[in-house]
Amino acid sequence: MNTFPDDFIWGTATSSYQIEGAAAIDGKGPSIWDAFSGIPGKTHRGETGEIACDHYHKFKEDIQLMKNMGVKAYRFSIAWARIFPTGKGTVNEEGIQFYSDLIDELIKVDIVPWVTLYHWDLPLALQLEDDGWLGETISDHFAAYADLCFERFGDRVKNWITLNEPWVVAILGYGQGVFAPGRVSTSEPYLAGHQLILAHAKAVHVYREKYSHQKGQIGITNNCDWREPLTNSEQDKEAAERALQFFLAWFADPIYKGDYPEVMKKRLGDRLPTFSAKEQKMIKGTSDFFGLNHYTTMYAAHDDGTAKERSVYGNGGISEDQDVDLSLDENWKLTLMNWAVVPWGCKKMLEWIDQRYDHPDIYITENGCAYPDELVDGKVDDQERLDFYKGYLQACQQAIEEGVKLKGYFAWSFMDNFEWASGYDKRFGLHYVDFDTLVRTPKNSALWLKEAIKNNSADTILEISDKIKSI
Ligand code: GAL
Repeated sequence: MNTFPDDFIWGTATSSYQIEGAAAIDGKGPSIWDAFSGIPGKTHRGETGEIACDHYHKFKEDIQLMKNMGVKAYRFSIAWARIFPTGKGTVNEEGIQFYSDLIDELIKVDIVPWVTLYHWDLPLALQLEDDGWLGETISDHFAAYADLCFERFGDRVKNWITLNEPWVVAILGYGQGVFAPGRVSTSEPYLAGHQLILAHAKAVHVYREKYSHQKGQIGITNNCDWREPLTNSEQDKEAAERALQFFLAWFADPIYKGDYPEVMKKRLGDRLPTFSAKEQKMIKGTSDFFGLNHYTTMYAAHDDGTAKERSVYGNGGISEDQDVDLSLDENWKLTLMNWAVVPWGCKKMLEWIDQRYDHPDIYITENGCAYPDELVDGKVDDQERLDFYKGYLQACQQAIEEGVKLKGYFAWSFMDNFEWASGYDKRFGLHYVDFDTLVRTPKNSALWLKEAIKNNSADTILEISDKIKSI
């Protein structure tokens, strides 16, 4: 059996809006996702995060389920509007108390908290008053909010993630308009991306300058799918590389190299804002680790002008800016999101990051899949998810063997939850949630992960008898 390094961190992940519910309870202010999901037609069946998994009231039970699985770490996010109901100004002490209790409960059972400061639920007031991520004041408000979180929670929290997936915020929130705040534009994504990078960097400076005595680490989580050249032609290889740069290097290059990738500057011209020399200096080096959310792979080819007719546009970004034609191999299995299951793409993605960013410590802060699970006799036989995890974790293990410094892996998600525009229709959980009764049930994938954690190995086989054993 191949094993992971002894100190490998096995975790699960969630985010505030997707699980907490209690949307307007104990002083929480509205977020852009409360508003967006309330607009008819924006989410599947008009579903919202108003109740979600009611984790706000059930967090102790959830932590016990995590403990049962043997996870070493838990990644969750703080709802900014629970701490500052209007994004700035008056602090809501009840919100502070909730996260403080959650953190204490985790520590009590030896699960290490990994805290994301922003997982898309911007306080609505900042959208209305400050123009959200397009406004030039937002980065300072974010830094002030981060400052308070470090002050109140940093004695116990040693792992911080500033932003979750700025690419999604920019492209889906400001480009395609399918996520909050629902803007449709070909220029705003690059403006929003710019403010997101500045916000991240300012928060890291606050942490390093005021809270170094807390001795924690801080970084950012970016998402990227792998892009495999469709053919061996130079054109297709360049197209795949270009697609990766528009996806991941857009955010990672400023942080690791000080500026946007050349290919983006060249192709976007005036639509891509510029950083001053002072800003470049402020941004460069602001990540202690490389956080990666990775879900799938697509082929990339040079777009010869006919791409629109034959391409599948999955997480492509603004394709006109890239001239990349994305496609799938018909033999690849698809999840319920229509994302292809391609573990070797994960390995290649890790190797690309390792090379481009000079061998950083990497944490996969999300990886997982949605399937149409069914609860039968109190059990969920989600063999496809189990196989997914096994395949991706084996690919991770191989990447480590080849020298990639992958330090940990967080499965998305601990439990089924509000999957943004897809509402409750797409189940990503290791635990099945009955959204009528809110009862949680570990799926077979959770039983497998428990064994894998125990063995510290992705080669773990789940015996049939284990499947029916209660966790
Ligand atoms: C990520 C996101 C998560 C979750 C997941 C599955 O992009 O960070 O919140 O929704 O995708 O779609």
